[in-house]
Amino acid sequence: MYVLISFILLSTNILLANGAIPGTPPDPLPSYLYQVLTDAPPSPLPDVLPMSDRDAADGFVHLIRAINMLPLVMKNYNYTVQIWALRLDFYWMRKNGYEVKWEWSRSNTTVYPHLYANITKKMVLDQKTWTRKPGELWNATTIVDDPWLTDSSVRLGGQMTWIVPLVFICFYSFVHF
Ligand SMILES: *[C@@H]1O[C@H](CO)[C@@H](O)[C@H](O)[C@H]1NC(C)=O
Ligand SMILES: *[C@@H]1O[C@H](CO)[C@@H](O)[C@H](O)[C@H]1NC(C)=O
Ligand SMILES: *[C@@H]1O[C@H](CO)[C@@H](O)[C@H](O)[C@H]1NC(C)=O
Ligand SMILES: *[C@@H]1O[C@H](CO)[C@@H](O)[C@H](O)[C@H]1NC(C)=O
Repeated sequence: MYVLISFILLSTNILLANGAIPGTPPDPLPSYLYQVLTDAPPSPLPDVLPMSDRDAADGFVHLIRAINMLPLVMKNYNYTVQIWALRLDFYWMRKNGYEVKWEWSRSNTTVYPHLYANITKKMVLDQKTWTRKPGELWNATTIVDDPWLTDSSVRLGGQMTWIVPLVFICFYSFVHF
């Protein structure tokens, strides 16, 4: 009996380890990852977000990098005219020990980040939505060059806009003394 139960548990484990094939992580790693949603995220966000049925079946949460967004929505999201995305703090997730594996998609065409845990509110930095007109493709929308979709450069950009005037003001005051 015990042996039978162990065997069933072992087989289930093997089935659950669904054989996603390891890929090479990008170098450098991005600071942000994104989750694409076809419904508005719950408001307010719960502390722990439930997984979609598909994610629960796969055993991980499907995430993407900024550069995956346009090809992904063009290929898989032409049936819907509005999509949402959560921006996740991958830097914080790494520091706090959350497991993200870089694995091949089922079609073996793209390596995606897979989160082996639920998304929590603490990971979520921000969210955004885009809509397209019914006859339009996603590549006719601002998704094409939205600066919100980035690996990390927004942080640096944000700092630079402060630093440049500050340096200028310091220099100007100095010259006038
Ligand atoms: C994570 O998501 C799954 C699937 O929605 C859910 O069953 C589980 O309770 C969640 N975990 C936590 C800690 O909320
Ligand atoms: C949407 O994508 C599916 C699957 O790739 C394709 O068969 C279909 O023709 C596409 N529809 C439009 C309107 O582009
Ligand atoms: C992807 O690659 C794996 C391992 O090489 C293979 O078993 C699987 O059939 C491939 N899937 C597709 C859709 O080509
Ligand atoms: C959008 O993608 C379609 C299908 O790949 C292509 O025919 C069209 O030229 C693209 N439009 C733009 C504005 O890039």
